[in-house]
Amino acid sequence: MRMSIVCATLCLLYSTAVTFAGEIVMLQWNPHWQCFEDHPECSAKATAMVAELLTTKNLDFANLIELETTELELPAGWVALGDFQSCGHDWDSLIYNAKRWRVLANTTGCMLDSRSYTAARFMSIADPSLGEVLAIGAHYPQTLNASSQGYEKGTAALKQVIKTLGGSDQFVIMADTNTEGPVAAAASPEHHGVNKTNGQLLVDLGVWGEGAGAPPGAKLFNGCCYNDNFSWQGDRIVANFGRVTSSEVLFNPAPAWAAFNTSEFHRAVVLTLQV
Ligand SMILES: *[C@@H]1O[C@H](CO)[C@@H](O)[C@H](O)[C@H]1NC(C)=O
Ligand SMILES: *[C@@H]1O[C@H](CO)[C@@H](O)[C@H](O)[C@H]1NC(C)=O
Ligand SMILES: *[C@@H]1O[C@H](CO)[C@@H](O)[C@H](O)[C@H]1NC(C)=O
Ligand SMILES: *[C@@H]1O[C@H](CO)[C@@H](O)[C@H](O)[C@H]1NC(C)=O
Repeated sequence: MRMSIVCATLCLLYSTAVTFAGEIVMLQWNPHWQCFEDHPECSAKATAMVAELLTTKNLDFANLIELETTELELPAGWVALGDFQSCGHDWDSLIYNAKRWRVLANTTGCMLDSRSYTAARFMSIADPSLGEVLAIGAHYPQTLNASSQGYEKGTAALKQVIKTLGGSDQFVIMADTNTEGPVAAAASPEHHGVNKTNGQLLVDLGVWGEGAGAPPGAKLFNGCCYNDNFSWQGDRIVANFGRVTSSEVLFNPAPAWAAFNTSEFHRAVVLTLQV
C-alpha cells in the first residue's frame, strides 16, 4: 500500500517532468549562406551546433535561415519542415520537437522572391490543455527602403499563410525580419527607414491588438552580421501568448569558425516562454 502511494507520487512527478515543464523554448538563427559555400569548417560546425542546441537547450521550435546543407543529422525526436531550397536559392527550416508537438498542417513558400517561410499549426502532445500553436519561421526581405514595399509585400504573404493554416489563436513568429526597432533605427542615420516594434509587427500580421502594448518576445539585439560588425537588429522571436522567462543571445563573440571576411553570420537568440 505505502509503496504504491510512493510510486504513484514519484511516477506522477517523473512523468510531469519528462513530458511538460510548462515552458516553450525557441531558437531563431541565421548562420547565412556563405558559411555553407566554400567554408567546410563553418558548415560542419554550424550544422553540428544545431543538433547540439536542440538537445542542450531542449528546444520546442527552432527556425534556421539559410542553413543550406543536407548534412544536418537531427537528434532523435526532432523533425524538420521546409529544410530545402525554396524561393530561388533561399532556405527557411522549421525544426520541432516531435515528442512534444504534432503537426496538424504545414506549408513552405515565399514571402517574396528569394525570401522563404515555413509555417505549421501544432498540437501539444505534452499538455493537451495547451491546445494549438501556430508557428511561423520567416526570412523577411530587406525593408529599409520604404518605397520598395518589401515589408508590406512580405507581411501580406504571411497574413495569407496565417489565414490558410488558421485554427489557432496562439501565435509565434521566429524570423530574420530585416527590420529594426525604432530606437536602433534612430541611433544611426544610415538605418533610417522602415522600423517596427514587436507590437507593430504582430499588429501588421493581424495577431495582436493595436495599443495592446508590447507582446511577449525576445529582447531586441544587434545580431547582423559578422562582416557588418553586428550593427543591425532584425532577428526576433515574438509571441501573442505566454510570459517571457528568459531571452538569451548566443554567439557573442562570434565563433572563430564563422569569422571570415565575407561571412554574414548572425548571432542567435533563444526565448523561453512560460505558458
Ligand atoms: C508537411 O506538409 C507536406 C506537404 O503538404 C506533407 O507532405 C508533410 O507530410 C507535412 N509534414 C508533417 C509532419 O505533417
Ligand atoms: C528604393 O526602391 C525603389 C522602388 O523599388 C527604387 O526605385 C529605388 O531605387 C530604391 N532606392 C534605393 C536607395 O535603393
Ligand atoms: C520609424 O518608423 C516611423 C513610422 O513607423 C517613422 O515615422 C520614423 O521616421 C522611423 N524612424 C527612423 C529613424 O527612420
Ligand atoms: C565593432 O564594434 C565594436 C563594439 O561596438 C567596436 O568597439 C569596434 O570598434 C567596431 N569595429 C569596427 C571595425 O567597426
